[in-house]
Amino acid sequence: MKAFTHLAAAVSLASLLPFAAQAGEVEVLHWWTSGGEKRAADTLKQLVEEQGHTWKDFAVAGGGGEAAMTVLKTRAVSGNPPAAAQIKGPDIQEWGELGLLTELDEVAAEGNWDQILPEQVARIMKYDDAYVAVPVNVHRVNWLWINPEVFAKADATPPATLDEFFAAADKLKAAGFVPIAHGGQPWQDGTVFEDIVISVLGPQDYRKAFVDLDRDVLTGDKMVQAFATLKKLRDYIDADAAGRDWNTATVMLINGKAGMQIMGDWAKSEWSAANKVAGKDYQCLPFPGTQGSFAFNVDSLAMFKLTDDDDRKAQDDLARTVLGSKFQQFFNQNKGSIPVRLDEDMSSFDSCAQQSMADFKAAAKGPGLQPSLAHGMAASSYVQGAVFDVVTNFFNDPAADPNKAVQQLAAAIQAVQ
Ligand code: GAL
Repeated sequence: MKAFTHLAAAVSLASLLPFAAQAGEVEVLHWWTSGGEKRAADTLKQLVEEQGHTWKDFAVAGGGGEAAMTVLKTRAVSGNPPAAAQIKGPDIQEWGELGLLTELDEVAAEGNWDQILPEQVARIMKYDDAYVAVPVNVHRVNWLWINPEVFAKADATPPATLDEFFAAADKLKAAGFVPIAHGGQPWQDGTVFEDIVISVLGPQDYRKAFVDLDRDVLTGDKMVQAFATLKKLRDYIDADAAGRDWNTATVMLINGKAGMQIMGDWAKSEWSAANKVAGKDYQCLPFPGTQGSFAFNVDSLAMFKLTDDDDRKAQDDLARTVLGSKFQQFFNQNKGSIPVRLDEDMSSFDSCAQQSMADFKAAAKGPGLQPSLAHGMAASSYVQGAVFDVVTNFFNDPAADPNKAVQQLAAAIQAVQ
């Protein structure tokens, strides 16, 4: 009798919880913690929970993800990695080599990933020819954000060239605004520098410098000019920039304190969260001199090997969800990026996202589409770190010499190869 009661209770419980039999847990490491980015991350959580699974949020604050990567390494070393982690670019290969990532071949075949993903992106997601990560989106790094109301008050013109950029900065400064809202953190300094390099050297030599690590290009006259431009830019940021988070810098534009920000399009997540409209309350322009180029930054979730079958099922469902239309639409509209599936309907996206998609497709036809160094797409995290060190030291030293900086850049990169 007692056994029967237990069985009956179990049966009725199971019918109340239709997913209970296959419900698993997914722990997801990411660094989407700003107000706008959290809204985007929550869409994934919701879609996973709707399938009956448990979402365990493993958010580690810190723009650019350096802190998150440090925490991930500690967890992996202790044999307890999360189900999924935001790992990007060439670093995916390193984690693959450690034998810690799981293959997603079944889900990828069923979802036709080879057909729906741009070839450039699919290649990055595979280790040893098998998908081990799922791409979430495409961010563009080479953007300049402006507050048009501030520009009007300062009688400044939206810039298309570096000369026009500094002319606008002078006007903003003269009118009492902070010309460039910047956060003095190595990855933000690196982001600005990357945009300047694309502008001054062009996309092909940018590639030679940061993908091929070509010493002649790294130490050439144009690179000297890029450092000189970075130095000039220093005069247009405010005294409190040190350590400031990128989203705090965005708020300086939203509040009308500053006129411009050089940042990837995750900055748009903050504008969207503040209910501001692209093309009206704010404008996005390709960073001056980089029209036709698209520095891409693809967020992706790499999947770790798990032992529990239900958790594995939840992990597969997570991967499936990420490339589903619902997620691609909701997430990217909140995150500021564009869908990684180029067949997505863009009609509900704002004008900046629509421009981004058009520019991505145009750049992909020629040399304009290039991987972002500052966001882990172009080279290993060691090379990226070496560049950040040189750039940040240079940016923080008013007496720094651009001619010496290029030699330091080449030496620092060589030391970590
Ligand atoms: C990037 C990442 C973006 C965004 C940004 C700021 O590296 O790809 O998704 O989070 O950092 O933290």
